[in-house]
Amino acid sequence: MTAKISIIGAGMTGSTSAAWLAEREIADLVLMDVVEGMPQGKALDLLEAMPVLGKDVAVVGSNDYAATKGSDIVVITAGIPRKPGMSREDLLTTNAEIVGKATRESLKYSPEAIFVVLTNPLDTMAYLTMKAGKLPPQRVVGQAGILDSARMRAFVAMELGISVENVACYVLGGHGDEMVPLTRHSNVAGIPLNEILPPDRLAAIVERTRKGGGEIISLLKTGSAYYAPAAAIAQMTEAILKDKHLIVPAAAYMQGEYGLKDMFFGVPVQLGRMGVEKIHEYKLTDDEKAALQKSAASVKDSINVLHQLEKI
Ligand code: APR
Repeated sequence: MTAKISIIGAGMTGSTSAAWLAEREIADLVLMDVVEGMPQGKALDLLEAMPVLGKDVAVVGSNDYAATKGSDIVVITAGIPRKPGMSREDLLTTNAEIVGKATRESLKYSPEAIFVVLTNPLDTMAYLTMKAGKLPPQRVVGQAGILDSARMRAFVAMELGISVENVACYVLGGHGDEMVPLTRHSNVAGIPLNEILPPDRLAAIVERTRKGGGEIISLLKTGSAYYAPAAAIAQMTEAILKDKHLIVPAAAYMQGEYGLKDMFFGVPVQLGRMGVEKIHEYKLTDDEKAALQKSAASVKDSINVLHQLEKI
């Protein structure tokens, strides 16, 4: 395989991302973690699944960043996940330390890599990655919007008893409870959601989407979601490696788009071999704009905490 993806943090999301990616057979994989033996064990286990799946993918586990040398993409999932009752912001201090180090160490061995960030609080950690690595904005993208939109798509499909493939949903904004499910732009086989769902059912789906991460945490009790976030990582990294020019909701650096500056935020992002090729702007109603501004204010607060901690 000519392409290489390194995943920093071989926990639940990191190792599940590796599994989804191995099935796609698009790159050799490195799992890197601070826990001794764990990434090596998971990598070996995954490698041994390849003959069954019929995929020729090399999978290596390591505690040494040298193993990540020459990566095309670095995925950062290192850090602590939420426990019941915690907000994503509660993770900030601990995860800022971990993500800053992961970025700097990875860049020593892969100076040209594109960074896909998953660690929470997502928008703030993507911002930190760009700053800590002194990276151009197009080389950093945060995973959240695909996940939030996929949750909404799943709920709509369940409600109507139809294929998930027929459901297109777009959730923008910060990856927090203030996220903005854009019901006007979402549809079922081209039919706007508000024409196919009664207002109370649509409102319930929007609310469940916003709280989707928390719903899973309260069930798991010891960690947060990983199958769907990892599937989103696989879709994003494939779009980058294959230069697909794929438009997905994801966190990108704002330079005036949607009236926002100097922050990462969930918007429709076009992904290709150079990373973030373009940010697409929807024409929004005043209500939609207000909802995005409210979400942006939460992300800004989080970035301010980062500044206060002097992590950037
Ligand atoms: N370098 C590398 N790996 C690290 C470091 C570090 N400095 N610090 C911690 N890790 C590893 C842990 O050893 C663990 O294996 O990060 C991994 C995190 O895995 P989990 O605890 O299973 O957490 P996970 O569910 O994967 O979530 C990771 O992604 O979705 C977000 O909110 C979530 O911030 C959390 C992150």
